Amino acid sequence: MSILTTLTRMWLTRSAKPFIFKNEYDQHLPFSDCEHLGLYVHIPFCRSICNFCPYCKIRYSKELCDRYIDALLREIRLVGSQHNGRKVTTSLYFGGGTPALAADRFKEIIDTIQEYFIITEGIGAELHPDDAVPSVLQVLRNAGVTKISIGIQSFQKKFQRILGRNSVNISTLKETLSEASFETISMDFIFALPDQTFDDLKEDIDTAFQIGANHVAIYPFIDFTFTSSTVSAMPKKEKKALLDAITLYCTEKGYTRSSIWTFSSEREAKYSSMTREHFLGFGCSATTLLKDQFKINTFSVEEYCKRIEEKKLPTSLTTRFSLRQRMVYYLFWTAYSTQVNPEDFENFFGVPLKSMYGMELKIAELLGFITWENGVYSMTLKGAFYYHYYENFYTLAYIDKMWGIMKKEAFPQRIEL
Ligand SMILES: C[S@@+](CC[C@H](N)C(=O)[O-])C[C@H]1O[C@@H](n2cnc3c(N)ncnc32)[C@H](O)[C@@H]1O
Ligand code: SF4
Repeated sequence: MSILTTLTRMWLTRSAKPFIFKNEYDQHLPFSDCEHLGLYVHIPFCRSICNFCPYCKIRYSKELCDRYIDALLREIRLVGSQHNGRKVTTSLYFGGGTPALAADRFKEIIDTIQEYFIITEGIGAELHPDDAVPSVLQVLRNAGVTKISIGIQSFQKKFQRILGRNSVNISTLKETLSEASFETISMDFIFALPDQTFDDLKEDIDTAFQIGANHVAIYPFIDFTFTSSTVSAMPKKEKKALLDAITLYCTEKGYTRSSIWTFSSEREAKYSSMTREHFLGFGCSATTLLKDQFKINTFSVEEYCKRIEEKKLPTSLTTRFSLRQRMVYYLFWTAYSTQVNPEDFENFFGVPLKSMYGMELKIAELLGFITWENGVYSMTLKGAFYYHYYENFYTLAYIDKMWGIMKKEAFPQRIEL
């Protein structure tokens, strides 16, 4: 499996050199001239820990959470003050963990961010279903949040049981959402669970749109090696049939496919913290992507707070891209939106996409993975499945390895991927 990702990486980067992440960092981050810059804030606290979840999270305590948010505000100031004036950015997303456990401090965080950054495309926050209640939604709305994403996973008891999640009260959620005024209400689902059928998923998607969502994200279940999940992954053939059936169903209903995993019932409904050219991440485990570097903060809440108390950035690892590596990274995440615009590529790198990857594009067209329409490359149904399939390998070969190490060591010396 990792042979496939290694060979693909060598082919596309035209080099045998792996991505090397080293225990070093820039205290001054060169983001001033980065266009299309997004912001991300990680809040790692959860009431209880789900055994399938790979993210950086820790059990909630009010005391630790407050200490963490104080450090987070200092990290934002340390980075934000490096730019002269307020830097224009696209969006701000809060992820976790369960960010709403710090709802009482959202306004302070957003106000601090706005001292240094101008946000032009709204503010999103990930919610656990337990937090989708009027009092919490009101606090978030008052703080400036414009989009929410609720981690439903499944409305059905048999899958909630498999995932160890509590059931969601559908009618109460519907009533709550009918009184909430967010421009995007997204719901997350996990698919490819044991014995899950198209009808199970169709019911989840229909329910989501009926009770107030205007956007859904349907993620394939990934069995990370370092989690204690006992759920087994669905075989490839069944998974492909399921993904194709959901995609066709959503397309026939008139929903827009806004990325590989997301569909929206209203064009303006968007929720994506991934498909951006550059981003700055704050908080433990948060990543930052700039012109020629990618860095990742420590996963340890304790070490994160300590570094910030020493007025140092909490970066654990940095990789400095070669030009081809940056191109591959750019194309991988842009393709996540199911489209690649050669003009955007040329504006970013100063060279035509065709001159760098003309042969690969031709092969992808011949294999029926992409089509050329109105000046952009669009992924076909087949292409989207193979992207998903490759992403699964990528996640297991790269993310699984890196996160597995970072969960054990706050500042590893070096990781090669
Ligand atoms: C940070 S988590 C969830 C936010 C919130 N804490 C919750 O539990 O509802 C973001 C999303 O990642 C997805 N996810 C988590 N673990 C996954 C796994 N092993 N495979 C696929 N998707 C996963 C879930 O859909 C989840 O809602
Ligand atoms: S799925 Fe959500 S609630 Fe569960 S451990 Fe992960 S972040 Fe926490």
